[in-house]
Amino acid sequence: MRIILLGPPGVGKGTQAQKLSGEFSVDQFSTGDILRDAIKNNTSLGNKASSYMVKGELVPDDIMLGLIEKVLFGEDKPDGFILDGFPRTISQAEGLTKLFEKHKIELNAVVLFESDTEIIADRLSARRTCRDCNAVYNLISNPPKEEGRCDKCGGELFQRDDDRKETVMKRLLVYKKQTEPLIDFYKSSGILRKVKAVGSPEEVYKLTKSVIGG
Ligand code: AP5
Repeated sequence: MRIILLGPPGVGKGTQAQKLSGEFSVDQFSTGDILRDAIKNNTSLGNKASSYMVKGELVPDDIMLGLIEKVLFGEDKPDGFILDGFPRTISQAEGLTKLFEKHKIELNAVVLFESDTEIIADRLSARRTCRDCNAVYNLISNPPKEEGRCDKCGGELFQRDDDRKETVMKRLLVYKKQTEPLIDFYKSSGILRKVKAVGSPEEVYKLTKSVIGG
């Protein structure tokens, strides 16, 4: 399985990626999680990325393309992958296409999740993430069993800095301007599949599996 999950911030890409990865034993790569881990570990990647992320802006394309090449085609090259949060600009998508051509691999599908801005804003304000394993929760739709603790690893749950209201609005604008053009980019390649991400996570998962033939 080689798929890209596309859609606005908070639409549920990470939630669906974790479900697919668990059921189909395929590696999930969230560029947001990779960057947040880099910031936590104070690496040079983290230092470069943090000023953009805190403002809700995109990290520059050259940094992101270098990162994804290492992740997908470096030493621990995965057989399949679910990309969550990459690509996010036309330049990233073009760079990724060139990498696939160079390594002679093909994408199975690009799944576009769609939802309303109000639903997204509500989901993000209630999101909590595990500091240790990056599992995603929601105080309303998917609360942890014990308040503030991850069900899977017992790690501390925290609220992301960029989930503050002003930053969420900025991220939605950035998505519209820089990432939405990818819909036409992938439509023309015939592998774009749309999913209405409005029901429960389980309902959305059923739809997701049906569009990728799982
Ligand atoms: P990133 O971490 O990728 O953030 P994002 O794309 O904004 O997406 P989110 O993680 O906010 O949302 P999601 O769609 O995964 O939703 P989730 O499943 O968590 O990127 C963060 C930053 O990193 C960017 O702003 C940028 O600076 C940088 N960056 C990353 N990649 C980059 C790139 N390629 N280029 C440049 N910069 C990059 O769900 C949200 C909440 O809703 C959760 O609480 C969840 O439990 C809940 N939920 C999910 N589905 C449902 C449902 N069906 N019903 C009810 N609740 C639900």
